[in-house]
Amino acid sequence: MAFPNAFIDELIARNPIEDVVGQYVSLKRSGGNLFGLCPFHGEKTASFSVSPDKGIYYCFGCHKGGGAVNFMMEIEGLSYPDAVRALAKRAGMEVPEDEQYQSRYRRQERLWALHKEAARFFHSCLYAPVGKAALDYALGRGMPKSTLTTFGIGYAPDSWTALVDAMRKKGYTDQELKDSGLVTESRKNGSLFDRFRDRLMFPIIDVRGNVIGFGGRIMKNDPGTAKYLNSPETLIFNKRKNLFALNLAKKSKLGYLILVEGYMDAIALHQYGFDCAVASLGTALTEDGAVLLSRYTDQVVLIYDGDQAGQNATKRAIPILEKAGLQVKVLQMRDAKDPDEYLKKFGAERFRQLLEESSNRVEYQLGAIYRKYDIGQDDQRVKYLQECADLISTLPGAVQREVYGGRVAEIAKISADAMKLEISRAYKRRQYQNKKKQEKIDLSPQRTHQPRSRDIRYDNMRSAMAEEAVIAMVLKQPELLEHTRKLEGEKFSSPLLGKVYTQLSQRYRQGLEVSAGVLAELSGEEMSHITGICQRQQAAPSEEALQDCIRTIEQENDRGKVSSAEDLLALRNKMKESKGLKG
Ligand code: UTP
Ligand code: MN
Repeated sequence: MAFPNAFIDELIARNPIEDVVGQYVSLKRSGGNLFGLCPFHGEKTASFSVSPDKGIYYCFGCHKGGGAVNFMMEIEGLSYPDAVRALAKRAGMEVPEDEQYQSRYRRQERLWALHKEAARFFHSCLYAPVGKAALDYALGRGMPKSTLTTFGIGYAPDSWTALVDAMRKKGYTDQELKDSGLVTESRKNGSLFDRFRDRLMFPIIDVRGNVIGFGGRIMKNDPGTAKYLNSPETLIFNKRKNLFALNLAKKSKLGYLILVEGYMDAIALHQYGFDCAVASLGTALTEDGAVLLSRYTDQVVLIYDGDQAGQNATKRAIPILEKAGLQVKVLQMRDAKDPDEYLKKFGAERFRQLLEESSNRVEYQLGAIYRKYDIGQDDQRVKYLQECADLISTLPGAVQREVYGGRVAEIAKISADAMKLEISRAYKRRQYQNKKKQEKIDLSPQRTHQPRSRDIRYDNMRSAMAEEAVIAMVLKQPELLEHTRKLEGEKFSSPLLGKVYTQLSQRYRQGLEVSAGVLAELSGEEMSHITGICQRQQAAPSEEALQDCIRTIEQENDRGKVSSAEDLLALRNKMKESKGLKG
């Protein structure tokens, strides 16, 4: 049977690849990935890799790869549905009927629409007479109308049923209202009333532009009332998996992202030209949040509040960000409690300076290593120095290495030369390791490009390379599927890549997870080939690169048509000729 996509998504989410594989293979972490001995071919060095972020495994030796489902199929010799059932059992999930899923998806769509209407309603209230105080508050906090428009900020009136009434009028049922989380049900008589009342409303918008929830701020601070009220978790809202303002920040040209604690901080930063700011949604940064960030940048500047809570949050966030492959800088707030206040006090220029001075991961981490050891004791001092040397040896610049090396030497009271030696040793060790890794990956172009299995060999290499790139790019950055609406899977020269593309784009348009791990109906070999592509393609995804590929695919597809038309013509001429000869 065909399993519903939403079910497969949940199945994959609840069966992390490292756990599933970990039941059979002992894995060791190295960077963002895990490595172990491949269970599918005999080997002594670990060339079997598991990427938790991508939800896939891949063996650089025997080229087998796939998601959790494929792994189960391969290792237990199960059919696709049986592998799915095994994983469902493992995660304690029920295997659903198709109908259940259908209704779930329809409900999601209705909730998106309802949220959009609700955002419109709140925004219009801000400019209505009932919203006067809220508008004054917003303007008073230095948000001009342009900001109110950009962020779709609104006002939830001081009424029990303003939203309920407005949404009922638009045809939403009581069940839908309850499911949206924007409305609560009275325990006494079951009547519905608005969750958000007399609050300034901040729509939370996902990277695809769907309004999925709200944060609502009271306008007079009051110790008895929570300052912010956020939407509860719903079918469409997961606060761990979304970030405030990422829908805007993902378009920033600044090349990095700024992560702050508060909605107001993110908004102020945008307003002052730092249009790359995002905020977490009233929670600490999660792994999902970090992975989401890593789809759009490789560098994050953390700016948490200057208080102790902010410092603790910073310390927790750094490893989470780095695990997602991000470079981290930390900006320490001085003379203001948060970025919002800082910008208003000192302006954008001073902030820019602060940003430039922001200490990088290295300074921050050197500090962390220092705190780990008691360098008054010789054995610990040696460990401290080695760990620092490891860290410093990763720096690309010689000057940087010299500066930090000198600093550490001074702290540990050894000579700068001895430290230099230690760093260069660590450097050589790393290079040797990198080289070994590259040898493993660097295969001849023919072999890397052409699928190993005869059944899926490419007929049109030029088109297939573009098709591979499309697949790799949209897997890295699913939002790119926004720009592929014209492209159909049938135009692909490779039936396999076309099939994969069709699945991914359908999933995207249904608001579902887009990743290699969720692909269905592929054989083990096919899946291995797809994961191989993901591992190999290093090109940074971009809209231009994508358009280039689409053009190539379309050209090649047209050429295919023309040549068959030519063939037809030639055939007809031949037939005519032969008739002519006879006649
Ligand atoms: P802040 O108190 O720093 O909020 O909380 P802020 O955004 O800077 O707002 P202003 O400047 O006081 O108006 C940081 C974040 O923590 C969450 C919200 O996401 C907020 O933006 N929070 C805070 C809550 O969810 N509930 C609360 O009661 C307070
Ligand atoms: Mn604030």
